[in-house]
Amino acid sequence: MKNIVILISGRGSNMQAIVEAQIPGARIAAVLSNNETAAGLAWAAERNIATDSLNHKSFDSRLAFDEAMMRKIDAYQPDLVVLAGFMRILTPEFCRHYEGRLINIHPSLLPAFTGLHTHERAIEAGCRIAGCTVHFVTPELDCGPVIAQGAVPVFDNDTADTLAARVLEAEHLIFPQAVADFVAGRLKISGNRVIRSPDATVQNTRLLA
Ligand code: GAR
Repeated sequence: MKNIVILISGRGSNMQAIVEAQIPGARIAAVLSNNETAAGLAWAAERNIATDSLNHKSFDSRLAFDEAMMRKIDAYQPDLVVLAGFMRILTPEFCRHYEGRLINIHPSLLPAFTGLHTHERAIEAGCRIAGCTVHFVTPELDCGPVIAQGAVPVFDNDTADTLAARVLEAEHLIFPQAVADFVAGRLKISGNRVIRSPDATVQNTRLLA
């Protein structure tokens, strides 16, 4: 069994999708948050998954918070740490500590629209296609080797909210697939690229009509 620790900051719908996928060979060891009122924590606790939180505001520095979070995470001996809407900029120390076993989902087709307000920016830029990206995390924000992308159309009458909802459906599809591929050893990093084995599920999920 591979131990997975999932980090969230709020709703936790991606975490729920990963839990509900019941990935063979994976054990959700804990769901942790920087926000003790994150709705996703209560959802996980109701399902008897270990939960815990650390308020970043009670730490003097970004590094002090990350070090405390690393201690909490490492208590679960994770094979994989999943950032599922964890809205924190991570220190290089944190990224390096989990190098090769830290993945994130971002609500845009990276490298377009790193950072916040991705859907507003995609609409503003006149994009006809938007989507989401699962990637290995490196110290540079929203960069790192791409594992999978899900693309959705942008319609003329879209608002940021309607587009976000469409992209979120793609997130809930590709994120559990990416976790399952990692757990099954179907992904390898080579430089800044991910090599997917021919039977990787994420091979076939690029464009969602
Ligand atoms: C998701 O859309 C995720 O892609 C995004 O936050 C949302 C969390 O929703 N993440 C980022 O913006 C990270 N930069 P959820 O809590 O329901 O999974």
